[in-house]
Amino acid sequence: MKKLKVAIIGFGTVGQGVAEIILNKAEDLEKSDGVAFEVTAVSDMQKGSLLDATGVDLAAALNAVKEGGTLESCGGAMPGRTAIETIAECDADIVLEATYTDIKTGEPATSHVKAAIDRGMHVATTNKGPVVLFARELIDRAAAKKVRFLFEGTVMSGTPTLSFAMRNLAGCEIRGIQGILNGTTNYMLTEMENGKPYDEALAQAQELGYAEAVPDADVEGFDAVGKVVILSNLLLGAKIAPGDVDREGITKITPGQIADAAAAGKRYKLIGSAKRAAGGAIEASVRPVALPLSDPLAGVGGATNALTFDTDLLGPVTVVGAGAGRTETGFSLYADMIEIARGA
Ligand code: HSE
Repeated sequence: MKKLKVAIIGFGTVGQGVAEIILNKAEDLEKSDGVAFEVTAVSDMQKGSLLDATGVDLAAALNAVKEGGTLESCGGAMPGRTAIETIAECDADIVLEATYTDIKTGEPATSHVKAAIDRGMHVATTNKGPVVLFARELIDRAAAKKVRFLFEGTVMSGTPTLSFAMRNLAGCEIRGIQGILNGTTNYMLTEMENGKPYDEALAQAQELGYAEAVPDADVEGFDAVGKVVILSNLLLGAKIAPGDVDREGITKITPGQIADAAAAGKRYKLIGSAKRAAGGAIEASVRPVALPLSDPLAGVGGATNALTFDTDLLGPVTVVGAGAGRTETGFSLYADMIEIARGA
């Protein structure tokens, strides 16, 4: 049996989500792939760090943090150890980077990713910061070290978009993409269409855990802009930054506009899109669009995400699925880990 050692950097919702999957799916994975993942390090800014080359007790770690506790009581606890120190010292084949996203600087995640790659470890991340800002550089850095840098979960959580496009649409030209890339705003627009005022819809989205810590990231479209940048740079050969994307959020949409759209057989969605214009430049935007109900994106309600790829050989192909969530985003890391294991 192939055994791969794993370090989890960031033990919040996503880190805990993937830890649960590693535990719950161990038997299935051993049967299907002959692979076992052994977690040898966990590090979290608030909860502390664990380091044990023979494997930490992941169930105990999950239990310890369940009620807001720390990892200090677990075997292998290393009080005061930072994430970067953990990455420098751990015995791991794969580092999972699941710390908080800072889309302006990409830190501290980018330093974590670089440190792991430089030690010859594969990296999978759900963190949009490093990928929005430095995807190409980090992919090349990993390739030079003969390791993988994967980030499926940065767009639509575990719903396959990047790997789907790069693997299954290989051979097609992707001429453009358009999608519902933010669950919070889609949930809010759906609720508003059902008559709920904006503030109530936002509060409910926050309560359900869809919203980013600062809701501006969702309602002003910044989160979707990050995803449009990732898709454009990875799939359309662009080299754009967030500032290159025309952006308008959902804060100015009125109940009257939503009702008028409904009367005209349309529905407002916050649409992230990018396409190659004549001359080769990339036109990218995030803005509310009143879509005809016949558009596959118009039927996607609640916090669900969807993405349509405009391809030369297949025409439009739409993927619909989860865009956020503990298990859903944790799964994206798990899928990246299996991809790495299959190639390792
Ligand atoms: N706040 C984001 C959303 C989470 O609502 O889609 C995933 O990036």
